[in-house]
Amino acid sequence: MKHYSVLLNESIEALDIKPEGIYVDGTLGRAGHSTKILEKLTTGTLIAFDKDTDALEESKKLLGVKPILIHDSFATIGEHLDELGIDKVDGFLFDLGVSSPQFDDADRGFSYRFDAKLDMRMDQTQTLSAYEVVNEYNEDKLVDILKTYADERYAKGIVKAILKHRPIETTFELVSCVKEAYPSSQLKKGHPAKKTFQAIRMEVNNELKDIENALQDAIKYTKVGGRIAVITFHSIEDRLVKQRFNEVATPPKVNPRIPQIEVSQPKFKWISKQIKPSLKELDENNRSHSAILRVIERTEYDG
Ligand SMILES: C[S@@+](CC[C@H](N)C(=O)[O-])C[C@H]1O[C@@H](n2cnc3c(N)ncnc32)[C@H](O)[C@@H]1O
Repeated sequence: MKHYSVLLNESIEALDIKPEGIYVDGTLGRAGHSTKILEKLTTGTLIAFDKDTDALEESKKLLGVKPILIHDSFATIGEHLDELGIDKVDGFLFDLGVSSPQFDDADRGFSYRFDAKLDMRMDQTQTLSAYEVVNEYNEDKLVDILKTYADERYAKGIVKAILKHRPIETTFELVSCVKEAYPSSQLKKGHPAKKTFQAIRMEVNNELKDIENALQDAIKYTKVGGRIAVITFHSIEDRLVKQRFNEVATPPKVNPRIPQIEVSQPKFKWISKQIKPSLKELDENNRSHSAILRVIERTEYDG
């Protein structure tokens, strides 16, 4: 199946790549974005991260030795940049979430469409998998995960069904628990297990915390004139990115009672508050439907 990189041209354009610059692709995947970044570099450097060893192996075949490929979470970007002796970066790209190859490989257990062992690990070397989350977490924690990571309104009922049927070994057993808890009137409105799978996957892969750390590092290491571009796929991660970007790029509201000299001005500016896929892309790639690209640029150093 053809690999489709979401918002590919839009994100590369938004990064405004300098041929001699240093760029970080936090989410290498199958190297769609990394390939385009490399095409624009002459003496520049690309450093790309992925938690998934398959992504690194497959991308290495495509990209050869030109980029620095790192098997680690993008939450550790800062540590790796320090080790490499890099103190400023011209651009960061994050194309968040699960890749199509991860979804489409039934054995990885990400998809409610295939029956597989409960897994959902992006990083195959990590010990925590969906099996432990579903079978070992207590009721309150599971309800909290379903609500916080997916706004699942039937969280309590789903978790009750999970507790009743434990041990749950497979994706289809988990889907059955969700269906048992869903009112029949809601069963036909999209796939009922979509939110539950999203929430459990986010817990297994520590997704929100990783994004928070990555944005903090990206903000710290971006050069003046450098940019940070993030593609999100659902409202929970998008809200986090939007809030963080607003904190650093949106000027504070003017309060006439506070002298303006005391109000710290933003060190970034918005380049694009939201870019969505073209009609052509939406037509060609179903996965693009929920994608949003947000981009900021550093205008000044802190302090
Ligand atoms: C949507 S895909 C990226 C696709 C890529 N841009 C392309 O064009 O091929 C997301 C990738 O990011 C990886 N990933 C997600 N969260 C990560 C994290 N915290 N650290 C490192 N890699 C991560 C996933 O394993 C997956 O391969």
